[in-house]
Amino acid sequence: MDSLKITSELKFYPAIDDLNEADKELIKKAFAASEKAYAPYSNFFVGAAVRLSDGLELTGSNQENVAFPSGLCAERVVAFYAKALHPDKKINTIAIVAVGNDVSTEGIVSPCGSCRQALIEYEQNDQEPIRLLMVNQKMEVYESASVQNLLPYFFSSSAIARK
Ligand code: THU
Repeated sequence: MDSLKITSELKFYPAIDDLNEADKELIKKAFAASEKAYAPYSNFFVGAAVRLSDGLELTGSNQENVAFPSGLCAERVVAFYAKALHPDKKINTIAIVAVGNDVSTEGIVSPCGSCRQALIEYEQNDQEPIRLLMVNQKMEVYESASVQNLLPYFFSSSAIARK
């Protein structure tokens, strides 16, 4: 029997100060965005900030709804916002932070499966890995070099390519 194996590696920074100034700034913007989250149901306030290929930085936050599935995660809010405004720019880096009122975010705060799938679409189309900086409430940072690194065996457009 053959088997396939994909490994996933994250870099770990015990403190935010271990990052360069540009990344620290992006994370600061993500924290500012988390304060604007609309999360009355979960009290889990997520902020995301993207840096685009020309250096432009945009932010977003999770937007919940009383009909729960109608809300959207911060990562997709900011990615769709960025791509709706700037379809020709690539997303270089996304910083993600989470602040919980009555929940702990001490582990890795990583994007949900739907957000990974949504981000991979751009990563594939633009042929440029999207770097992720994931920050928890202890201000530790986990870095992934790409979204694909977080979603091995993702559903790819090649699967529905016409013969
Ligand atoms: N959420 C995000 O915004 N990003 C994630 O990566 C995980 C979850 C949001 C969705 C919902 O508003 C709240 O966090 C609790 O799941």
